[in-house]
Amino acid sequence: MKGIIMAGGNGTRLLPITGGASKQLLPIYDKPMVYYPLSILMLADIRDILIISTPEDMAHYKRLLGDGSQWGLSIDYAIQSKPQGIAQGFLVGKKFLGSSSVCLVLGDNVFYGPHLESHLIKAKINATKHQVATVFGVEVNNPHQYGVLGFNQFHQAVSIEEKPNTPPSNIAVAGLYFYPNSVIQMAAKIPFSKRGELEITTVNQQYLSDNALDVVQLSKSFTWLDTGSPESLLEASQFIHTIEKRKRSKVACLEEIAFKKGWITKSDVLMAAKKMNRTPYGQYLINNYL
Ligand code: DAU
Repeated sequence: MKGIIMAGGNGTRLLPITGGASKQLLPIYDKPMVYYPLSILMLADIRDILIISTPEDMAHYKRLLGDGSQWGLSIDYAIQSKPQGIAQGFLVGKKFLGSSSVCLVLGDNVFYGPHLESHLIKAKINATKHQVATVFGVEVNNPHQYGVLGFNQFHQAVSIEEKPNTPPSNIAVAGLYFYPNSVIQMAAKIPFSKRGELEITTVNQQYLSDNALDVVQLSKSFTWLDTGSPESLLEASQFIHTIEKRKRSKVACLEEIAFKKGWITKSDVLMAAKKMNRTPYGQYLINNYL
């Protein structure tokens, strides 16, 4: 399975912050936002990763993430010339994906909670072995801002609507999706929506009506943060700060994940740490790995 991170869009909901910088490069407490979705792919044991972003921002991603070898990854880059929808990522990434299944994660989504890795591995098996896609549902207060699931009396998902005026439930679809390779053909067939995008929700609806979508509802103890507004950006930083301080461990520490997976050595971790020895991130690595 390969991974795609959508790190494009125009960031208009965060202006003027995003006037000169890509949204997904903004900090969430002590690290760039894109580290969080990247860590999710790593936790799912996905090492071939494509970053999709705008022509203006691409150089910054390359500078930050390089070829990924410092984390035992292989990172490629592709440009989406206009933000014409999340599902366009499968078309932009068609060559990169080849015949692989794919996990697509949004560059501005943060996930933190119990059983995360087992959810990821199950979704991966669904896609690779059973040709079944997986989406994750999370209870929210403001469902009209998201893709929203509708359920029948047996609590089975029967619909997904994008930003509905009258949400059928308060269960939003998070920005983390697993698909078999058929998603490339699927994305090529769907029409542009009224807002001019190839909607990921249309793709998910299609898998749902083909009876090939697993909807996993994340528990109340799971935290999913989307960072679409100045307030949610601040809250995300505060959340990560609190968790890291309380637990005395780091969320989305890429060197640590890569080391635990056996993709890099202890001396690789320390080499990275030494370059960052004036920051809490670097100090954390030094304290734990020296
Ligand atoms: O966060 C989860 C929600 O993400 C889902 O519940 C919705 O179904 C899904 O449509 C999406 O809604 P948003 O309105 O939050 O999407 P947004 O336009 O903010 O884009 C999400 C991320 O994807 C953001 O990091 C920018 C990136 N993106 C977006 C588009 C439309 C791209 O890289 N290219 C694009 O063309």
